[in-house]
Amino acid sequence: MAAAVDPHSYTDKRQPLTTHISLSLYLSFPTTTLQSSALLTLSSAHTGILSLDTRSLTISSVVDADADTLTPIPFSLSPHPDPIKGTLLTIHLSSHSRILIAFTTSPSSSALQWLSPTQTFSKTSPFVYTQCQAIHARSIFPCQDTPAARITYSARLNLPASLSAVMSARHLHRRLPLPGEAAMACDDSMWCAEDRVVEEFVMEQPIPPYLFAFAVGQIGFRDVGPRTRVYAESVPSLLDSAAREFAGTEDMIRQGEKLFGPYDWERFDLLVLPPSFPYGGMENPRMVFLTPTVIKGDATGAQVVAHELAHSWTGNLITNKNNEHFWLNEGFTTYAERRIVEVVQGEDRAALNVGIGWRGLNDEMERFKDNLEFTKLKQNQEGVDPDDIYSQVPYEKGFQFLWRIERQIGRPAFDEFLKKYIATFKFQSIDTETFLDFLKANVPGIEKEINLEVWIEGTGIPPDALEPISNIYTKIVSLAHEFKNGRLPREEEVADWGGQEWELYLENLPKSVEASQISALDKRYRLAESKDYEVKVAFLQLAITAMCRDYYGEVEKTLKEVGRMKYLRPLYTLLVQFPGREDEKLLAKRIFMEARDTYHPIAQGVVEAILSKHL
Ligand code: BES
Ligand code: ZN
Repeated sequence: MAAAVDPHSYTDKRQPLTTHISLSLYLSFPTTTLQSSALLTLSSAHTGILSLDTRSLTISSVVDADADTLTPIPFSLSPHPDPIKGTLLTIHLSSHSRILIAFTTSPSSSALQWLSPTQTFSKTSPFVYTQCQAIHARSIFPCQDTPAARITYSARLNLPASLSAVMSARHLHRRLPLPGEAAMACDDSMWCAEDRVVEEFVMEQPIPPYLFAFAVGQIGFRDVGPRTRVYAESVPSLLDSAAREFAGTEDMIRQGEKLFGPYDWERFDLLVLPPSFPYGGMENPRMVFLTPTVIKGDATGAQVVAHELAHSWTGNLITNKNNEHFWLNEGFTTYAERRIVEVVQGEDRAALNVGIGWRGLNDEMERFKDNLEFTKLKQNQEGVDPDDIYSQVPYEKGFQFLWRIERQIGRPAFDEFLKKYIATFKFQSIDTETFLDFLKANVPGIEKEINLEVWIEGTGIPPDALEPISNIYTKIVSLAHEFKNGRLPREEEVADWGGQEWELYLENLPKSVEASQISALDKRYRLAESKDYEVKVAFLQLAITAMCRDYYGEVEKTLKEVGRMKYLRPLYTLLVQFPGREDEKLLAKRIFMEARDTYHPIAQGVVEAILSKHL
């Protein structure tokens, strides 16, 4: 029997952990594969079995990296992949501490999206990028793919000379390939003849494998601060608008340092990805990945950056030991994000964000009403795919818990507590119990003031959670409640509304509004055509619920233009979840068939799960 540390990994705690991985990746765009090698250094020499996670990798050899001659080491792959964990790679070591694995990724690698030129902004060059959180690093290289295991890494990416690479690591240099690196396993003479370069990177700080990241394409950049560059496909108008959107980044880093302690990652660069990027943002260290949908010249871009920046302390410095404690990552980060937003955008804006989150948390209670486990902060995720249960609960219930503690002990004491927590556990992966012990030790008697068990183990929203109170928040929510009498908001009431105000308004409308009222609202305020996807998608959700078929064209267009799962999930779910709505189900199926190839593999899987649950 294996001794698991993580329900989502084959990592065995009786075996040594990997401390460093040295990767060579040959990017083959014609075959959409990486021909690779990984040199794993273990924390100590080991005799016996080493269990590694892989998914859809073809392993060609495992050899002893310490021997002068390349001595093979016996290995085997489990015959049937587990649908969640993937394929176990078993290596039989005899006093080995460094092993070299040669392997190739599959075109369907769940972490990689290979984009053809037509799927990019530039339309001229291909593009490839990674998304490893939560458990997809194993589809790029064999590893102990659990956040309990931290690794440093170095990487050599061999790519066409017309492209360039960025990584969640320090860039060392770009050079010509050495003779041995020229064309690994190249079977296409035209592509073999192409000019290649090697870009080298190193990550010297130990990170959980889910923070491994790279992107390769025709990438340009603009400097926007002393430690921040914005990278994007090298289209001048895109680079310019991205640089404008993220101009305030240095200010936020300084605020973060004031609140949470030194920024430990040296650089804080941003990469704007093509529209198929499945998340709003991903906190890859030194190189945050962002959806282009946040570039719209309002407060949202900065909010997403504040969130990913906050992960530099909560998540990347202190990491959850496994995904059952994910709230330690996202709850703390949501709290920290709002503290930064409060300083740079003001208390009202922060309260608005808390309010949008509050609505989201309440909606998740409805989504999980038959699956209460996922309304808990600490969850049992045995046999559960993290992508299928991704929700606002760890974010917003986690935020509420920390806000509750702040209210109890006061902000100055809580700020000091946070700083000490971060300094104490940095570069460690911890669980909920470790946090609770630290809390009780540093805030004596807290368990008498707050029912910690209800917060951590309980389902639903605890009675001492708090709906925010602020002028704009309260006004918008009561306007939304008045809508059930058929009352549209007046022009002067919405005159100064931006996207977030509209989002809050739409999300608080009664779920039962009628089709005619939906159209009336749209006729006056043109919400279905909003350039702001938060507004547009919130509106389209109401339209689908009310079966307002005039808007299905817009739904289809949206599902085909962006691959951000925050939009795909609710739109597909609403199309298929109502019994008896056969036309809508057919529509969802057709759109997915046509759009599937443009989605990242993770998004493909998530939409497939939604459709198969209801069809
Ligand atoms: N780390 C998450 C994204 C993520 C979570 C990817 C789980 C894979 C698995 C990131 O920090 C995040 O929370 N992004 C949000 C941004 C928002 C809260 C401002 C998103 O993508 O919507
Ligand atoms: Zn996050």
